[in-house]
Amino acid sequence: MPNPPSVLFVCLGNICRSPLAEAALRHAAERAGLAVSADSAGTGDWHVGEPPDPRAQAVARAKGLDIGGYRGRQVSPEDFRRFDHVVALDRDNLRVLERLRPADGVAELSLLLDHVAGRAGEQVADPYFGGADGFETTWADVTAGAEGLLQLLTRAR
Ligand code: 4NP
Repeated sequence: MPNPPSVLFVCLGNICRSPLAEAALRHAAERAGLAVSADSAGTGDWHVGEPPDPRAQAVARAKGLDIGGYRGRQVSPEDFRRFDHVVALDRDNLRVLERLRPADGVAELSLLLDHVAGRAGEQVADPYFGGADGFETTWADVTAGAEGLLQLLTRAR
């Protein structure tokens, strides 16, 4: 069996948006019966080793998903050799990743909402400094992105 396609989601802190994107893709892939390897990381290092933000955990739990075991980590150049896709949640993080990418990196680098018809170039807004409703918007965005990515991975199979 070849390795399943692998996707790394990257936001700033790895406690709000990218863990939710990871959970959304895992869930969509499971429903579709497609083996996918998903992970997430942050460009910043403030939350390394920490579980997702309680508000992100609550939104996931409301959808029946437990992300309490996820732990924050910082993205590294090696990730560009290990993953097929590195997917940024916003343009600031995309720019950081463009600089981090090593010459021998193989991962395709994209913005999550590039995978959603009509939303190319759009960002998933940072919900960290807002209220709980921001996390519902995050969930809707990452779900749409995960569905689009899943279609891409299914076609590439
Ligand atoms: P995330 O949100 O990038 O979606 O995980 C943030 C989490 C933490 C911080 C900023 C954004 N922070 O400044 O600590």
